[in-house]
Amino acid sequence: MPNPSRLSVLVALAAVSLWCYLNFVTILKATAGRITIDSTRLRRWENLPDVANGQCVVDTVANACEDVNIHAASSTAFLACGDPAGRVQWFPSARFQPSTNRAVFREQFFKYDLKTQTRTELQLHGLPSPDHDIVTHGLDIRAIPGDNSKILVFAVNHARNGDAILIFEHTLGTDALHLVREVRHPAIKCANSVAAVGPRSFYITNDHYYPRGILRQLEDRFGPWSWATSVQYCSAEEGQEVVCEEVSDTMPCANGLAVSGNLVFAGDSKNGSVSIYEMENGVPNQLRRINVVDVGAIADNIKILAGTGDPLVTVFPDGEELPLFLSNVSALGQTVFAPTAVLRLRKERNFEPELILRDNGSLLTDMTAADIDPKTRMLVGASFLKYGGFAVCQLPDNIDMS
Ligand SMILES: *[C@@H]1O[C@H](CO)[C@@H](O)[C@H](O)[C@H]1NC(C)=O
Repeated sequence: MPNPSRLSVLVALAAVSLWCYLNFVTILKATAGRITIDSTRLRRWENLPDVANGQCVVDTVANACEDVNIHAASSTAFLACGDPAGRVQWFPSARFQPSTNRAVFREQFFKYDLKTQTRTELQLHGLPSPDHDIVTHGLDIRAIPGDNSKILVFAVNHARNGDAILIFEHTLGTDALHLVREVRHPAIKCANSVAAVGPRSFYITNDHYYPRGILRQLEDRFGPWSWATSVQYCSAEEGQEVVCEEVSDTMPCANGLAVSGNLVFAGDSKNGSVSIYEMENGVPNQLRRINVVDVGAIADNIKILAGTGDPLVTVFPDGEELPLFLSNVSALGQTVFAPTAVLRLRKERNFEPELILRDNGSLLTDMTAADIDPKTRMLVGASFLKYGGFAVCQLPDNIDMS
């Protein structure tokens, strides 16, 4: 017969284990910063009629474009694109098990001239080695003061040996990107977006806390976590060590990022908000949060509407079913649809979201970024897992771009 006192200890342990199991999420909330997001907050643009999507053309050569930035002075869109089949194997925001059966991942950048409607693949020069992985994600461009012939292109790269920000120089009118700096730092770990601040300085968001491994699996399985992500400011001046520091509060899933003057906009793709920060005295590593705007949907990339300084936020009105999209990349926009919307947050209306464009997913599906060229009144929308990776839409005359 079992010893009665040992039996009661076992019964007590079993009861405690059962209680912990049943109350696991509550325990994580109380002790580990797990949060609950009210999903009804993320349905504000669901079940609405389409808007301003009547004249869109999908490009069928570039695929899987996650981000786009329009250079307004030349009416040229710059796009970070890639390979849907590769992303199903390796794209750390979504698939993070390093895939070893590939010699190299080599995704592409494109430019699209909105005046002549021509797309050109950009050739990469100066990569550290011929088998250097290029897996694109966030993208930003920056003017070079005093030189109107060139721009800098900042790009997130997910090489299998670690994330980096690539800084390229591009002479306008050419098809070349020359790598001038590959910036690595432990704080650039699950990079999502990049926003240039100076020639060698930028903000980034990470979209997870743990890049890979068992901790990452636990992070994904039991989150969202209030502490998981934030905005980092990094400077990589020539001849100096790379310095990165956290400059925002933490949020569950920092994603889109854009800078306009002294303002920094950071979107969250889990809780559907855009946090607005101001650089105190114009100092980029001293950010003060001045507003948090509920945008009513999962918020992805943020671009700045040229001439206004207002952010354009691309959102998923019906949510983003990433596992479904990853298992059906060939069907995206064919039989699997992810509706999309572009919102403008007008500063003069205290950043209240205003719907600029909505599509039910038949033209612009799984769209992660959209930028607008006010001069040609064209919108370029990027779809990050899809074959046919971007679409160009002529916007109707009733859309006010001032
Ligand atoms: C999207 O809208 C178009 C035009 O109204 C319609 O033809 C199409 O069937 C719709 N597709 C979906 C997936 O709702």
